[in-house]
Amino acid sequence: MSDTDGRTRRKRDRGARTPAPASPPPGRKPFPHRDLLGIEGLAAEEITFLLDTAEGYAGSARPAAGPRPLTGLTQINLFFEASTRTLMSFEIAGKRLGMDTVSFAVAASSIKKGETLLDTAQTLNAMRPDVLVVRHAHSGAVSLLAEKVHCAVINAGDGRHEHPTQALLDALTIRRRKGRLAGLTVAICGDITHSRVARSNIHLLAAMGARIRVVAPPTLLPRDCDRLGVEVHHHMRDGLADCDVVMMLRLQKERMQGAFVPSEREFYHFYGLTPDKLARARRDVLVMHPGPMNRGVEIATAVADDLAHSAIEEQVEMGVAVRMACLDVLTRHLRPDMAA
Ligand code: NCD
Repeated sequence: MSDTDGRTRRKRDRGARTPAPASPPPGRKPFPHRDLLGIEGLAAEEITFLLDTAEGYAGSARPAAGPRPLTGLTQINLFFEASTRTLMSFEIAGKRLGMDTVSFAVAASSIKKGETLLDTAQTLNAMRPDVLVVRHAHSGAVSLLAEKVHCAVINAGDGRHEHPTQALLDALTIRRRKGRLAGLTVAICGDITHSRVARSNIHLLAAMGARIRVVAPPTLLPRDCDRLGVEVHHHMRDGLADCDVVMMLRLQKERMQGAFVPSEREFYHFYGLTPDKLARARRDVLVMHPGPMNRGVEIATAVADDLAHSAIEEQVEMGVAVRMACLDVLTRHLRPDMAA
């Protein structure tokens, strides 16, 4: 093992276990990217840096308290797809940091009058925002838009490709509950094929040294599963055995063309997370779901509401902290006091 590998591994372990800020090698910025378009390609140290920064905001994000370091900066939320928690939490995050936040209602905009994505990008760019948060139904649309603007762009979910802030908030939730990410066994269950949440989580958990299982019927598993370095299971019984974390996913019907499961009833029977299936996991298993939840389809109410295991509400809370961290980190070059 080379020195570099050794250093990476030590940092990865330390970062996964403690909330202390990660320090990059001298002269290198801890997060040297203009945008956050995906988790794929981020180094473990960069992920740890975002999580550590978010940790600093978790639990203490009171709107009235503390400084507002991003006062005077503008954040535009451009959502081409429906959203409840992601949009709200980006807006709250920006406001808590003092930003001027504007959320763009696509249904009421010129986009419905035939304007192209790139024309929209140029129009928004001319308004000189500092951060653009974008959700779009097509994989790759957010990266395309990022090429046309001069500000930081955060991907809030593009098609079935990536949803980086969801994976970060999931990681922060796990790290706070379990004290680490490295070495944990995480089962991601349900509609993997259409899920950007699954994809971002797989990249993040792999980078941080967790063991990843995907549990789904063959019709809901992407063809490139092998390339993603995950263990594949078709039965909840095997997939959940002794795992530390179970992440449940909704059937993403809006991205399906045709029927991928015979019926929701049958899907629930085989893949719905019920107390008896959960009993296969470790006694201290953590149950997660990015929302929106479909009770009685991918998860039983008894499991979703069981606070001994469910971290679903905490995920939403960590979402604000993670988004504050991302807005903070991506605007540091604009704040002379923070320029690293
Ligand atoms: C997810 C999304 O939009 O990809 N939701 C979210 O951001 N909280 C998952 C989903 O819609 O099922």
